[in-house]
This record gives sequence, C-alpha cells and structure tokens, in this order.
Amino acid sequence: MEGIDKKFPGVQALSKCRFDLRAGEVHALVGENGAGKSTLMKILTGVYSKDNGKIFYKGKEVNILSPKMAQELGISMIHQEFNLIPHLTVAQNIFIGREIRKGIGFILDEKEINKRTEEILKNMNLNVDPCTKVMNLTVAKQQMVEIAKALSYNSEVLIMDEPTGALTESEIEELFRIINQLRQKGVGIVYITHRMEEIKKIADRVTVLRDGQYIGTADVKDISIDQIIKMMVGREIYETSQISTSDNDEREIVLEVKNLKRGNVIKDVSFKLRKGEILGIAGLMGAGRTEVARAIFGADPLDSGEIYVKGKRVHIKSPKDAISHGIGYLSEDRKRYGLVLDMDVELNIVLASLERFKGLLGWVKRDKTKSESQMRVDELKIKTPSLQQKVKFLSGGNQQKVVIAKWLTQDSDILIFDEPTRGIDVGAKNEIYKLLNELTRRGKSIIMISSELPEILRMSHRIIVMCEGRVTGELSAAEATEERIMYYATKRE
Ligand SMILES: Nc1ncnc2c1ncn2[C@@H]1O[C@H](COP(=O)(O)OP(=O)(O)OP(=O)(O)O)[C@@H](O)[C@H]1O
Ligand SMILES: [Mg+2]
Repeated sequence: MEGIDKKFPGVQALSKCRFDLRAGEVHALVGENGAGKSTLMKILTGVYSKDNGKIFYKGKEVNILSPKMAQELGISMIHQEFNLIPHLTVAQNIFIGREIRKGIGFILDEKEINKRTEEILKNMNLNVDPCTKVMNLTVAKQQMVEIAKALSYNSEVLIMDEPTGALTESEIEELFRIINQLRQKGVGIVYITHRMEEIKKIADRVTVLRDGQYIGTADVKDISIDQIIKMMVGREIYETSQISTSDNDEREIVLEVKNLKRGNVIKDVSFKLRKGEILGIAGLMGAGRTEVARAIFGADPLDSGEIYVKGKRVHIKSPKDAISHGIGYLSEDRKRYGLVLDMDVELNIVLASLERFKGLLGWVKRDKTKSESQMRVDELKIKTPSLQQKVKFLSGGNQQKVVIAKWLTQDSDILIFDEPTRGIDVGAKNEIYKLLNELTRRGKSIIMISSELPEILRMSHRIIVMCEGRVTGELSAAEATEERIMYYATKRE
C-alpha cells in the first residue's frame, strides 16, 4: 500500500500512508488510539475506499472495491468490533453468504455446514458446538469463532485487529500456535495490537503509525519496546508511580458483599471495599469476576447473598437500583452494554446521568451537558472531531474512553471497572491510571477487575484473587507478587 489518503468528515484519518506485507511473516501494526490502523486495513479489505494511493497485490496493482472482492483475492480481516450475527449459530455465521446448498434445491444444508465447521473448530482445538447460537458464547469464544471464520476462507493475507483483547492466557497460546502454523504455510499476517509484549513474542516486523501517518518499519529483533513506544507517541512516557498504601485499614467500608451465590459461576464470594481504595480483583478468565461485578450491579440476579452500601443492607434488582445506590459499572463488553452506537459522543456521556442535567420543567439543559461532556473529552483526550460525532465512528479505544467518561459524569461513589484498559493504547493507559488515582483521592472507591497482572499490581491497594467462583486469597499491595496471585488464581477447591 502506497501513498494512501483517507478523509472522513472532519478527520484526516490517513495521509500518505504506506504498508507492505511479505508472505509468511507476522507484521505488527501499532499506534495510538485513532492512529489509523483499522482504517488502513479496512481500505485493504474493501470496507472503505481510499481517496488516494495504490495497492499492489502479488506485484500487480489492484482496486479492491468490496470485502467480497478482498476475500476472493485471499485477503480476510478479523475485525476489532465483532461482526457475528448473534441469533445465528456458529456454523451459520462461519458460512454466511456462501451457504452450501443441497442438490438443486434451495434448502440450506445445515448438516454439511455443521460438519465443516466442526472440522475447522477441531483444527483449532476449540471446544464449541457448531449449533450454538453466537449470542450464547462468551466474548472470548466469539472472538475464536471470528478467527475460525477467517481461516475457513483459506486466506493468503490475514488481518487480525486486536485479536487477543478478550482471550485467556491459554487461548492466546492457542492463537499463537495457529498463527505460527499459518506463517509456516506462507500466509502473511497483519497483527494489530496494543500489547507491546506480544510484538516481541509473535511478530517478525513492526510498522508504526501516528496521526494517520507512516512513521517507520523495523525488524522486531532490532528494536526495543521503548523505541517502538517512542515512535508511537512521539515523546517519552513517564509511568505514574505506585500509589501509597498507608493507613488503609482505618477507612470507612463503603461496600461489603457477603456470601454471594449464583448458579455455579459464583459459589461463595465475600469482600469489603474501603473508601478511597482501589481493590483489584485478579483471576483467570472464567473465574467469575465479571459475574460478581454484574451481580453487584444488578445486571444478573443472585441466588443468595447480602450487599451492604455504607453499612446499610441494600436490595439491588436492576442496574437502576445500583446506580441509585451510587454504584457504577464499566462493563468489559462495552459494545453490548456500554454505548449507544448511533448516538453522538455528548449524549453517550450524559445519558446515564440525565436527571442531573434537568431544569425545573424537566428539560435537559443543553449548555450544561455540552460543557460537561466537553470537559470529559478533554480530560480523557478522546479523539473526536466534535461532540456531535456518532460514537460508532470513533476508533475502538476512543469508544472505550467514552464509556469511562459516562461513568465519571454519573459521579458514582463506587465504581467497578472491568478490564478498563483493554484495547487502550500505552499513552492513554497512563492517563487512565492517573485518573483512577485521582478518583480515589477525591474519595471514590474502585473495584478494578483486570487480567493484566502488572496493571493489578501497580494500581491496587489490596487484591483479592478468584478461582472458579470463589475468593481464594487476599493480598495487600506490599505482599502481592505475580507468583502469589497465580498461586491463588489456580487454587481449586
Ligand atoms: N467511519 C468513520 N467515520 C468517521 N471517522 C472515522 C471512521 N472510522 C474511523 N474514523 C476516524 O479515523 C481515525 C482513525 O481511526 P481508526 O479506527 O483507524 O484508529 P485505530 O488506529 O484503529 O485506533 P484504535 O487503536 O483505537 O482502534 C480516528 O480519528 C477515527 O475517529
Ligand atoms: Mg482500531
């Protein structure tokens, strides 16, 4: 790809951008949120048209006009936003648009697509029933189905846009195994990621974009992560120091949960959250952390257990109840629960707190919603041409920042952050860490669920660890190490 320009209303997403891919290499494509990574690859796959520039495929100039055309050439993309259709089965999703038909009839051969899907999944060592509806799968499993779908096209170029965002350690290992297999077969793989350590682990070369421009390409073995980060942000980043952890035990308990139980996902969970603290919840994917968060937030019903807010027993039956008790929840699956994609940035930010912006007659005060949402946009450095941009047009990471902005505006005393920095670039990650610290200084209490141990260790005053629906350990910031956390995270009953 050479000299690629792309302008969206109000945004020059790419200017004179370039990229090249060799057969049999894994080429990492990195850059801050909004740098233009997804856009560049969507141009390559015919999702967007370019304003200028040329694309050469196997030495010949090509004009890729549609995703179908890209697919026929052998170029597939696994998108950052899932494109699966929730009420169709896994097999139907994989074979959509090229259903195998029986004989002369027009009846979809369910049996055949199920059989073929089973083969693909088996090849990936993936334990999913082809007949399951996609909406009943976890985010991680949906992601794997996306990969299976791309693989089913026998692509020669495979683009993965942040594929590990929602995967467990073992699923990531599995994915890397598949990537290595494909590399050996000569498939060229574009790998978009915000996790710097993955570049070292899986990629042969790395290309950096910044503000829609090409910054450079290097062999991974010749470049350090620090150098890559510097190319990405164009400046040095200073890490926020670890937070102080003194006199934590004397602070007021703002939230206490006792013996929470729900089905076999939450077996027995009790813990306390103190004012102004960040309580980290560590554990492997599937340990039940998100389920606990959802239960406290009233998104799922509990079978039994008690919840106390500032010492008073509360009965939370719905998210609305939770919000009225001052509890906010930033869900891990932002697309599904956090945003209204067709609404603009401003409305998404103020939506959960409209009451606060109403005047005497119940009218929403637009000047207030405007100034407050503008403040959040500045504070979180959300990259958007205006407050009136629909959130579906923001880059993935910037959409996540909008969800964070929404809960900050809600002004809840207790905030549950589920994987708050997933998909967020290194620079913005630091901004979010600073913000969490700032919130605790303002007296907010935070529960932070994270699968990234360095993040948990750096941010938490106290850490509880879960395994298979139970709390298996508690560590103070001083005691906590990766090894200790992993010990409890794998401690089965
Ligand atoms: N369909 C669209 N309409 C308008 N603007 C868009 C559209 N798609 C992307 N943009 C804008 O183009 C710029 C580049 O976005 P892109 O999604 O390519 O970033 P990215 O590098 O993939 O970021 P992230 O790491 O957050 O996913 C951003 O400013 C984004 O808001
Ligand atoms: Mg993107």
